[in-house]
Amino acid sequence: MANNLLKGKRGIIFGALNDMSIAWQVALKAHEEGAEFVLTNAPIAMRMGAINELAEKTNSLVIPADATSLEDLENLFSKAMEHLGGKIDFVLHSIGMSPNVRKGKHYTDIDYKFYNQTLDISAGSLHKTLATAHKMDALNEWGSVVALTYIAAQRIFPDYNDMADAKSLLESITRSFGYHYGIKKKVRVNTISQSPTVTTAGQGIKGFDEFINFSDQMSPLGNASAEACADYCVAMFSDLTRYVTMQNLFHDGGFSNTGVTQPVIEKFGNIE
Ligand SMILES: NC(=O)c1ccc[n+]([C@@H]2O[C@H](COP(=O)([O-])OP(=O)(O)OC[C@H]3O[C@@H](n4cnc5c(N)ncnc54)[C@H](O)[C@@H]3O)[C@@H](O)[C@H]2O)c1
Repeated sequence: MANNLLKGKRGIIFGALNDMSIAWQVALKAHEEGAEFVLTNAPIAMRMGAINELAEKTNSLVIPADATSLEDLENLFSKAMEHLGGKIDFVLHSIGMSPNVRKGKHYTDIDYKFYNQTLDISAGSLHKTLATAHKMDALNEWGSVVALTYIAAQRIFPDYNDMADAKSLLESITRSFGYHYGIKKKVRVNTISQSPTVTTAGQGIKGFDEFINFSDQMSPLGNASAEACADYCVAMFSDLTRYVTMQNLFHDGGFSNTGVTQPVIEKFGNIE
């Protein structure tokens, strides 16, 4: 049910590749809630994905941008403001990629050129996005920036590989930039730490299917879906959460505070 929570707000949504993408769901919900926004993704993803279909559904413009390129980001913010008719109120950073994961490199034997790419694409891109917006004064006061993260930033999940390092950095950038942007412009910056979710990026992780079941059974409410994550993002973009900033917000059905659950204990009943 739509409540016009984002009526009159202008946004930029990064990272909708296909209808499994979390960003795709966020775009649908933001549209339902009355927002106007621009969709963006890396130029290469335009060819692989279905972003034009989403643009049609949400009546939005697509502006390609590699989120590691300052030039692309500057072009994105200036075209988005021109198209939407003013400064931006919300930004979703929904970007993650590790060449080490893709190429099956073990964490103890990563390729360092790939490692730099992982950190640049998955975390540095948030700093570059915020720095570009800050320099261009492209965000309205009380604007809200949300980046998506995972609990591997705090705890070891071995197959998450170097993405864990990238997520730790992403969360640190959120705190640091959140401080400076808050002081200067009352812009808030947060991460949402989402349950494992079946998407193109998620499926790249080794043993993902087993892991998603484990996580589901370790969460009192079960895994949170991409649609539910989109609801939380909309809440964070709305005026109802204006004093939330510099936080890592768990959206995981309770997984992060659970030591063990009965269904998981029962799996170990017959071990001699
Ligand atoms: N799927 C999960 O289990 C899960 C759990 C927690 C957090 N997350 C995070 O959610 C976010 C979205 O991932 P998703 O699961 O929806 O997968 P996805 O593969 O649909 O989205 C990842 C997006 O990053 C984009 N991207 C990659 N390189 C880019 C670049 N250089 N410039 C701009 N965009 C680029 C891709 O094109 C893609 O659209 C990621 O940050 C991911 O780490 C995912």
